[in-house]
Amino acid sequence: MAVLGATGAVGQRFVQLLDGHPWFRAGALAASERSAGRRYGQAARWFLEEPMPEWARDMEVVPCRPGLDARVAFSGLDASVAGAIEEEFARGGHAVVSNSRNHRMDPEVPLLIPEVNADHLELVEVQKRRWRGGGFIVTNPNCSTVGLAMSAAPLYRAFGIKRLVVATLQAISGAGYPGVSSVDILDNVIPFIGGEEEKMESETLKILGTPKAAASFPISAQCHRVQVSDGHTLAVAVETDQRTTPEEAARALREFRSSLAPLGLPSLPERPLTVRDEPDRPQPRFDRMAGKGMTVTVGRVRACPVFGLKYVALVHNTIRGAAGVAILNAELLKAKGCL
Ligand SMILES: NC(=O)c1ccc[n+]([C@@H]2O[C@H](COP(=O)([O-])OP(=O)(O)OC[C@H]3O[C@@H](n4cnc5c(N)ncnc54)[C@H](OP(=O)(O)O)[C@@H]3O)[C@@H](O)[C@H]2O)c1
Repeated sequence: MAVLGATGAVGQRFVQLLDGHPWFRAGALAASERSAGRRYGQAARWFLEEPMPEWARDMEVVPCRPGLDARVAFSGLDASVAGAIEEEFARGGHAVVSNSRNHRMDPEVPLLIPEVNADHLELVEVQKRRWRGGGFIVTNPNCSTVGLAMSAAPLYRAFGIKRLVVATLQAISGAGYPGVSSVDILDNVIPFIGGEEEKMESETLKILGTPKAAASFPISAQCHRVQVSDGHTLAVAVETDQRTTPEEAARALREFRSSLAPLGLPSLPERPLTVRDEPDRPQPRFDRMAGKGMTVTVGRVRACPVFGLKYVALVHNTIRGAAGVAILNAELLKAKGCL
């Protein structure tokens, strides 16, 4: 495995989550020319609570050029450069498993959350014809979209969705490093995250749809940056096609299970969703590490006088919302024989 953008916020999560992974080993850590040639321990300004793995510290950071000795290239690249670099890697025969937005809405590229739309993997075969040499690109959604799509999926399947609104409270780590200036975020809420609302509105529909056709109900998103280190909170109101009660909705959320359990994917959490009954949960500090950061926590499932139903969801943005879901995607690719 190679990690492209290994020095960044998402790249560091890849390195941390690949430490001791039973199937995968990070054989190459790649980043910009600024970091290439330096030891990873010097090039990465490590800011995770978990220590930097010893094996990574002395690895030399290499430039992001295809030909690395790795079948899978995990990408945590800055979106300004990810598009072209990921294409080069796909053309060079690598399986690119990306976090970046650049290829997510390409109709031939799966936008994947394994528990929700593993059937979209069929697009890989279509795409292989484009790149030849066995290369392809698989993407995971934007971090806040993961929380929305995972919590909306059981409701969509059980009751249908007529329309949905979501307001987010998003963690600072979602902006990468150095991210938002402390002067801007201290004692503050910033009601704008460039492109985020559009991504939530379009990506969620692609995920909930079939490989060939997106779902088609209106979504309205409002995104805010808040002073939380990790964990995006989403306040969701939804009108379902078929009328439902909060109790029935909570049951559908609680009973949501992945059909992938028999594959034994190492990063698949026991439960994709957990539903809390306390009136003051989920909270980022207490709930973001549910299922080692891979379980989305839902709470406050209740009646909404306007839409019928509302709830709060919490997703760990760099684990389930980025590196963790990408590693799960690669595990699914391996288990399905796509690598
Ligand atoms: N943070 C999140 O919660 C999150 C969640 C989901 C998706 N994403 C997406 O994941 C991607 C990475 O986000 P991030 O937050 O990790 O960003 P980041 O902390 O700014 O890291 C960006 C990475 O890209 C590398 N890079 C920049 N310019 C490059 C170039 N010209 N050639 C090669 N490498 C280059 C950087 O290397 P140097 O250190 O050498 O500059 C660094 O490793 C973005 O597309 C973002 O939208 C982020």
